[in-house]
Amino acid sequence: MGNMIKVQKGTKDILPQEMALWHKMEENALRVFSNAGYGEIRTPIFEATELFARGVGDTTDIVNKEMYTFEKSERSLTLRPENTAGVVRSFIENGMHRLSAPVKLWYKGPMFRYERPQAGRQRQFHQVGVEMFGIKDATADAEVIELAVSYLKSLGLDDLEVEINSLGCPECRENFKTKLKEVLKPYYNELCEDCQTRYEKNPLRLLDCKVPSCKEIFERPEVKAVIQGDFICEECAKHFNELKSYLDILGIKYSVNKLLVRGLDYYNRTVFEIKSNNLGSQNAVCGGGRYDTLVGNLGGQPTCAIGFAMGMERLYSLMNEVNEDKLDAFVVCTDKKESLKLVKYLRDNDIKTDFDFTGKKFTKQMEKAAKVAKFAVILGEDEVANNTVSVKNLETSEQVAVSRNELLNILR
Ligand code: HAM
Repeated sequence: MGNMIKVQKGTKDILPQEMALWHKMEENALRVFSNAGYGEIRTPIFEATELFARGVGDTTDIVNKEMYTFEKSERSLTLRPENTAGVVRSFIENGMHRLSAPVKLWYKGPMFRYERPQAGRQRQFHQVGVEMFGIKDATADAEVIELAVSYLKSLGLDDLEVEINSLGCPECRENFKTKLKEVLKPYYNELCEDCQTRYEKNPLRLLDCKVPSCKEIFERPEVKAVIQGDFICEECAKHFNELKSYLDILGIKYSVNKLLVRGLDYYNRTVFEIKSNNLGSQNAVCGGGRYDTLVGNLGGQPTCAIGFAMGMERLYSLMNEVNEDKLDAFVVCTDKKESLKLVKYLRDNDIKTDFDFTGKKFTKQMEKAAKVAKFAVILGEDEVANNTVSVKNLETSEQVAVSRNELLNILR
């Protein structure tokens, strides 16, 4: 016998008994996002490596450490670690800037990051997300955050925390970076290795560090004063205040987290995350923000944009309802030929049906029916003789003899 081949570390099979909730996540995405005018887009799973290096940013962990990159015909290709870059590529390539703004797109599908697997963190995981192009006004930011909250509500998840922040524009951010570097300079040698690199390459990302000794430095009064200070310019502050007032109007509770900088380089102004207290350390179900320069940076007509993505495995683990996916009917009949005919009749009429393939005794078949179905459809000798069937509601144990036409009505 050969060796057993196992599923790869950080990847998972999604099994039939889990599908009811997966379908719910997908169907609700289609419904909630189409109701808001978003069209679904499906981009390829692999893209040119350069798209992510330039799109997500070459100082990010995602690009530096986590990409599944391979070569084919001397081309460097990468399994998508996220879908914003791919959607932007498609937006540009298909000339979507010519459509009237806003252009609204949503997607779902697998993403790949070579991370250390742990609870809530996989190497292949799934995201559902939206991207909206062409609106600079803070109403767009409010709509996108509202949409995330509505989608989560549709899945029964309303006990979540919305955190927002503004990263300002490239100009005000430069200012902030300089101030941050100045105040951190005396602590440079105490920063962790990653933070020392960030200090040189991308100081904003320092704030995202989870190492306790770094976090402690950010709590020092003079450092904290810089972090908590209002570094963003007047225009950016106005945009952020408008967003807050729109969220208030929509009744969305949020808190401002000045340490929220996100792990991808393309953001400016609004960034946000939605977190759950029931997820342990990987507590973000949703991350997103505004990226007004990405379309231009990737070679398109400069177009502002904002979006979010949610981790579907994390949503799944929060949806604690019973993952029940019972059959509508189980045909109980000791005559296999009659069973085959009746099962086909029910399936043709869109009733989810199965039966016993092996002609077991009546009582065994009834036991099986009680386990897997809502109704037992019983076809015994009497029923065949009278041209009726008996239907037993397996929850209430009520049983009635009916004609085939009535049968459909009951099962529906
Ligand atoms: P992100 O924060 O990297 O943003 O990912 C969004 C969400 O995907 C996270 O909040 C988390 O729920 C889930 N996620 C990320 N990595 C993993 C993993 N290894 N295992 C399981 N779940 C994970 C983005 O990807 C941006 N593209 C979001 C965006 C869209 N920004 C603007 N538009």
